[in-house]
Amino acid sequence: MSNEKNELMDKIISLCKRRGFIFPGSEIYGGLANSWDYGPLGVELQKNIKNLWWKYFVHGRDDMVGLDAALIMNPKVWEASGHLKEFSDPLVECKKCHTRYRADQMPEKCEQCKGKEFTAAKQFNLMLKTFLGPAEDSSSLAYLRGEIAQSMFVDFKNVLDTMRKKIPFGIASQGKAFRNEITPGNFIFRTREFNLMEFEYFVKESEWETWFEYWRKEMLLWLKEIGADMKKVHEHEIPTEELAHYSRRTIDFEFDYPFGRKELYGLAYRTDFDLKNHMEKSGQDLQYTDAETNETFIPHVIEPTFGLDRSLLVVLLSAYHEEEERIVLKLKPALAPYKAAVFPLLKNKPELVKKAQDIYRNLQKDFNVAFDDRGNIGKRYYSQDEIGTPWCITVDFETLEKDDVTVRDRDTMKQERVKVNKLKEYLKHEQPIS
Ligand code: GAP
Repeated sequence: MSNEKNELMDKIISLCKRRGFIFPGSEIYGGLANSWDYGPLGVELQKNIKNLWWKYFVHGRDDMVGLDAALIMNPKVWEASGHLKEFSDPLVECKKCHTRYRADQMPEKCEQCKGKEFTAAKQFNLMLKTFLGPAEDSSSLAYLRGEIAQSMFVDFKNVLDTMRKKIPFGIASQGKAFRNEITPGNFIFRTREFNLMEFEYFVKESEWETWFEYWRKEMLLWLKEIGADMKKVHEHEIPTEELAHYSRRTIDFEFDYPFGRKELYGLAYRTDFDLKNHMEKSGQDLQYTDAETNETFIPHVIEPTFGLDRSLLVVLLSAYHEEEERIVLKLKPALAPYKAAVFPLLKNKPELVKKAQDIYRNLQKDFNVAFDDRGNIGKRYYSQDEIGTPWCITVDFETLEKDDVTVRDRDTMKQERVKVNKLKEYLKHEQPIS
């Protein structure tokens, strides 16, 4: 990694800490294995990405329904899905100090002791174990879910029976997944618990290629929607010998992160692998009957998967700009933690402060907004630019006479007068999705 690129990552991590986006997990105890906590602004950005995704792929469509399942599932689920047997990474160990590395990311020399000899690669299962109830034996052994997909297969019949959806349709979900990664690292890129957004799209076998192509394009459109730097997005066809155990075809969407070109999202054709296996192991009928043709079959599945933490990292990297006098996060307005910030021009003029607070309280009913009366206007703009607030609203003496305010645009830095009773419309109108 070049120094310049290293520097960009350091700047993002430092901005995230300084401005309350992301903190090191368990920091007062020295942290824990590359875990991270979303702070007050990070949680807003994260929620905005999740909400936009839900609006875009679930509410905005007739062929998608949602699901939010338990994180810990019956261990038989993971037997049927193949995760207990197949969900592993190749692991090597330094022969001298026993530090472990993923075989595909093995350094030339051990990073701890500089030893050059490693054991042969062996498979290491990534499922995180826990115990349910007071006994800690095999009868109470359970797993934290390694992917969120399985719930959408296990609940397939329930969704079908209650929602009466016709194929093609999808089940979408968002939530945490857990993997006992050998080498977590690169900030929120690879962690042992992470957030996923994905859907299983059920189709007829004969139509899988059409839908695969359809979702490939939709995933690219979504990346544009969140403001990803599209010059840095690349598609990578996974060679057959590297496909996950459930997939017949996978495309990874990769991104040029400062630490290299690596996976961002995946699109997989899972065939009928999961439903078929769950049918066999559970003894339940998970087939679909076409009401028109009376044909009964196991649907095939296209799975677009979107890592939420990697989305957030890409959004931050793409939005980060250094200009002569300022650092600015050019976030899409729909994603920005604060939609607007309201300032009284002067702190020591009660009539201005009162008017600004009234406007702030009113906007607060519909948007997450900030109020700032510290320092001078220039400093307040600087502070809001750095966290990506799209609009700054200043209440001045003219406001008291004409009931309008100055609205300053984050990206162009242009200012215009807007009537107070038009402010909500103004902020809504500028959102990418109305
Ligand atoms: N259901 C399919 C599935 O889980 P995956 O490629 O193993 O597929 C999906 O993971 C996405 O989750 C990846 O594309 C990536 O965005 C994200 N992801 C995977 N492992 C991760 C980790 N350790 N930390 C953060 N995000 C991760």
